[in-house]
Amino acid sequence: MAQEIRTAVFPVAGRGTRFLPATKASPKEMLPIVDKPLIQYAAEEALAAGARKLVFITGSSKRAIEDHFDTDLELEKALEAQGKAELLEAVRGIVPSWASCIYIRQPSPLGLGHAVLCARPAVGNEPFYVHLADDLIAGEVPCLKQMGEVYAERKASVLGVETVPQSETDKYGIVATAGAEGRVSRVQQIVEKPKPQEAPSTLAVVGRYVLSPRIFDKLERTGRGAGGEIQLTDAIADLLAEEPVYAFEFEGRRYDCGSKLGYLQATVELALKHESLGPNFGAYLEKLIAARKR
Ligand code: UTP
Repeated sequence: MAQEIRTAVFPVAGRGTRFLPATKASPKEMLPIVDKPLIQYAAEEALAAGARKLVFITGSSKRAIEDHFDTDLELEKALEAQGKAELLEAVRGIVPSWASCIYIRQPSPLGLGHAVLCARPAVGNEPFYVHLADDLIAGEVPCLKQMGEVYAERKASVLGVETVPQSETDKYGIVATAGAEGRVSRVQQIVEKPKPQEAPSTLAVVGRYVLSPRIFDKLERTGRGAGGEIQLTDAIADLLAEEPVYAFEFEGRRYDCGSKLGYLQATVELALKHESLGPNFGAYLEKLIAARKR
């Protein structure tokens, strides 16, 4: 039987340079989409997929994330006194009592692979999720839950993938696969940020992974790769030589919230879907568009 996945790792130590100056003192994962920061969407997705241990790999501006998941008794008391029951529920229930949060500092942003390696002491010898909060995925079934199901079936690492335009292969890890069965195929090759003319396919790895603990041994030996960073992709390439790794074309719409355009698209689309805000916001957008056409 496949081992249960109990731990989710959230690397949040990147510099977030594309969002400066917003990310100067606060990580980009704290940017809100409508009324929740990206990292809360991430934690909720991992909890829905069965994770009970949430491991945050933080950098120099980690305070905001710890504070966000911590209890704020003063705020709770104030909301209670004001009779704001809904808001009280919203701040109280962010992480349920059966889940725990662990914070590990990545001493310097040496790359995503290095960030994942920092999680080793907290993960141990078990399979685990990796979730990059700046890739927000909206769908009926939370993406990590879909991937956990693939893991339970295949008992091997699973990478969340999506087809991207050929011109954008140099922004992603790109996989070549074989033997597709529905949404799942076996990874034959993986390369980090290949030029469009050199990419083995247009199937890009996005910010969702189920990884076998063996990846840590590979990461220990991974040197600096593309962009001078220790790349998770390079360690996965080594892992491939020893055990199967699967690519999974998840169901759902992905927003690249690490880019300004993706972030704005997520904000608009999730605001339109928002229960109380949606209708008014939709009416406002229609007026705005009509006025621009005039
Ligand atoms: P990105 O490639 O988006 O880099 O990292 P970045 O530094 O966050 O953002 P830009 O490109 O400068 O705007 C992908 C994910 O890996 C994490 C980031 O926090 C993000 O979730 N990461 C990256 C780390 O935790 N540590 C690192 O050393 C690098």
